[in-house]
Amino acid sequence: MAATADHLKALLNAHASGDEDRFYSVALQVAAKSARQGHGKLAVELREIIDAARAEKIPRLAPTPVVQPRGELASLLTAGYPDVRLDDMTLADDVRAPLDKVLHEQRQRARLERFGFTPVHRILLSGPPGTGKSMTAAALAKELSLPLFTIRLDGLISRFMGETAAKLRTVFEAAAETRAVYLFDEFDALGAERTAGNDVGEARRILNSFLLFLDEAPSESLVVAATNHRHLLDRALFRRFDLVVHYAPPSPQQAIEILQRRLAGMDTTGVPWSDLITKVDQLSHAELVKAAESAAKRAILGGNDVVDQHLLTEGLDERHALRHA
Ligand SMILES: Nc1ncnc2c1ncn2[C@@H]1O[C@H](COP(=O)(O)OP(=O)(O)OP(=O)(O)O)[C@@H](O)[C@H]1O
Ligand SMILES: [Mg+2]
Repeated sequence: MAATADHLKALLNAHASGDEDRFYSVALQVAAKSARQGHGKLAVELREIIDAARAEKIPRLAPTPVVQPRGELASLLTAGYPDVRLDDMTLADDVRAPLDKVLHEQRQRARLERFGFTPVHRILLSGPPGTGKSMTAAALAKELSLPLFTIRLDGLISRFMGETAAKLRTVFEAAAETRAVYLFDEFDALGAERTAGNDVGEARRILNSFLLFLDEAPSESLVVAATNHRHLLDRALFRRFDLVVHYAPPSPQQAIEILQRRLAGMDTTGVPWSDLITKVDQLSHAELVKAAESAAKRAILGGNDVVDQHLLTEGLDERHALRHA
């Protein structure tokens, strides 16, 4: 018998803990021992089994996404298959509730359509930077198992100037054919007529084609527009959305929750959370996530997983300093 009792125990332990490398390395030891004991044929067979099993495990390329923009479209939008969920986000109740409504109606579309109703499918997200508007579009895509197509309107307008309306039409045509979440980011660029270097006529054309698009947008897709500057938007645009969601900076409790969630994999038992309330003031969701990441990385590179008040305060101070830089 080539495998000793110790080998068997080690194999079982490796299997139980899911340690594949360890499993095969013990198996190779068994093969080596067989060879030493003169069981050459067994040793060869064992190695062949191990090699074949390992070859199977070589990570394959991620499956090719079903939809990838081609040709001109590829230069107008970016496609993604996000992996973030609404539950991963820290959201105020008055933000979460309308988003749940969107998901509910989209998922129950057939029931609504049987009676001639369409689910909510045009939503405007407005609020200060770093509060989770783009992330929400990603999470909605994930929840609905749809691809996320992002169109950055500011970039589009400054790149194509007088041709923007025509380029947008290409995007709208794609939207009519491919079911997805379409995020029109930096949406206020539509309203910033004079700063974009476009003539007023072109700005009107862009706005009008967008209004038309919103009117005709198929309810199978979700059109999400995100803006920091709601006041720049034309009133006529507002009326076209089924839902407008307002994002606000985090409350102190939400701020602490964001830190705690981002540090969930670390040891934070020594952090007096309530003492940090004054330190989280003024920081956005995005800045808090960055502060937590910075503290965690310092701990890890310092040799352990303990994030204490000192490290966290440093991370937060860093964000405040950048804010005022
Ligand atoms: N509500 C949130 N909950 C958890 N993490 C968040 C939240 N909002 C933002 N973040 C973190 O901040 C990052 C940036 O957020 P996001 O890009 O969604 O902000 P935004 O509102 O779109 O900002 P901008 O107006 O600048 O485009 C996210 O990838 C995430 O790490
Ligand atoms: Mg954004």
